[in-house]
This record gives sequence, C-alpha cells and structure tokens, in this order.
Amino acid sequence: MTDARMTLRAMPFVFEPSNKHWNPGHWNTARPEFSQVVNSASLAMPFLEPYLIRSMRAARSKITDPALLADLDLYIRQEAAHYKQHQLFNETLRAAGYTCIDAIESRLAADYSKLEKERSLRFNLAYAEGFEAMALAIGQMLIEDRVHLFGDSKPAVASLVLWHFVEEIEHKSVAYDVLHHLHPGYFLRIGGLIYATAHIFWRTRQGYHRLLKEDGLSRSLASHWALTKVIYRVLFNILPKWLRILRPGYHPRQIADPAWGLAWAKLFRDNPAGAAKLDTARLAEPVPVPS
Ligand SMILES: [Fe+2]
Ligand SMILES: [Fe+2]
Repeated sequence: MTDARMTLRAMPFVFEPSNKHWNPGHWNTARPEFSQVVNSASLAMPFLEPYLIRSMRAARSKITDPALLADLDLYIRQEAAHYKQHQLFNETLRAAGYTCIDAIESRLAADYSKLEKERSLRFNLAYAEGFEAMALAIGQMLIEDRVHLFGDSKPAVASLVLWHFVEEIEHKSVAYDVLHHLHPGYFLRIGGLIYATAHIFWRTRQGYHRLLKEDGLSRSLASHWALTKVIYRVLFNILPKWLRILRPGYHPRQIADPAWGLAWAKLFRDNPAGAAKLDTARLAEPVPVPS
C-alpha cells in the first residue's frame, strides 16, 4: 500500500550563528543538558541517514512491489532532506567552537562504513527497521512531551527536531515493509532493533558527555542531576513504546499518528515559514503559529 501521507518539504530553517551572546549548543537555555543530548543525536544524522539511504538503495533492485518501490523512493528523499538540514545546524555547533565534533563524527563515519563493509544487506536492513521503529517511538515521545522539552527554546532548533520526527512518523512503515518483503522473520527484526537501539544510544551518550565536558558542565553537580532527570524522563516515556515493538504481531501501521503531528502538517501547507519557526511559548496549542 502506498503511503500517501509522506510529503517532501523544503524547510526554510534559519539557524542563528554563534556570537558572544549566543551559544547554539544551548538552544534550550533552561535545559542545556537536553540541548546537548539532542545536539549529539543531530551530529549522528549526516552519517546514520546516508547509511540508511544506501541500504535502501541496495535493496531497491530486489523489490518487486511497485507501491513499495514508490514508498522507498519517497523515504530516501525525506531522509536526504533530514540530514542536510542537520548538517546546517551542526555547522553552527562547530562554528561555536566545540572541538570534540571532529572526533564524534569520525567515529560515526567509521561505524557505518564498517557495518556496510562487514555486514550483509539483510543485517543492514534489519538495522534500518530497528532504527525506524525506535524513531517512531522517540517521535511520539517528543511530541507528547514537547512543552517540557522544547518550551521557550530557540524556535529554529525546536522546529528542526519536531519537523524531523513528524516525517519519521510519516514514513514509519517503509523500512518495516522493505525488511518484511525481502527477509521476513521475527528474530531478525528484533535483533536489528536491539542492535540499532544499543548502538545509537551508546554513541549519543558518548557525544553528549563530550559536549557537556567542553561546556564545563560535567563538573557541576546541579548539571549532573539535571542530566539524570531528563534522561530518566525520556527513557521512562519511551520504554512502553519501545516494548510494544517486541510483539510478534507488531506493525508500525498499528500505531496511531499523533494529532499534533497532523496539525503540524496542515500548518506547513498553509505557512511553511511558520512551521520552520514555531512559537515555542505556545507549544501546548495544536498549531503554534509564530506571532
Ligand atoms: Fe530522518
Ligand atoms: Fe527515518
């Protein structure tokens, strides 16, 4: 079945460059620890998403279902748009002077190149579905908890993350359908989920610790406590959504789309610039149009 909701959007984000009054690493000034967790994940996107795209391209010639091929092509275009926007934001982090970024990026580049060289396409497609299943869970969590996590933060960065996850929800079924079409099997799917989850969480954790160390926050007890609280909050909210993926009968299409994400898609249709600059003081509203 072709998923007609997948939409390609040219997002007009404007990321404010760093200056002596503004550090883009702390785009949520009230929550610098959460900002760096997100920044670490953002640094992974220009390595993870091209790897997903290459795996899906490699699968393309083996797929016989025309509707699935159409979905796969849209999926690739959405993911390509995601990592390009993250690259733009990541450059503002580099320009702010974070010296650990090169090492974080080299490690991610090495990881994905090794997976591609040493693992089968079957494994890489299972990783892709594992990541996508997790991205659906994370996207739902971020939308449900948006006021706490993004309230009063910099509009462009909050809008980048929320746009990305609205589209992750839109293409939630594609990697599942590709894997199921070529390599059906419960244990392969679950193996991919566990591997992808452990890999992404571990690398993200390494990244935010290095970023927070450069901030000088790793020496602060208050910052340690704030980091612990936000990590537990996020994990506690993701866990039930992650556990449901383990059900043998799981299919991402069973998961209802959040109303806020559908309202966001409508906002984009009416006002693309507004969707790229959400009013983060009004995130509780269904459509937080900038004033
Ligand atoms: Fe993406
Ligand atoms: Fe995705």
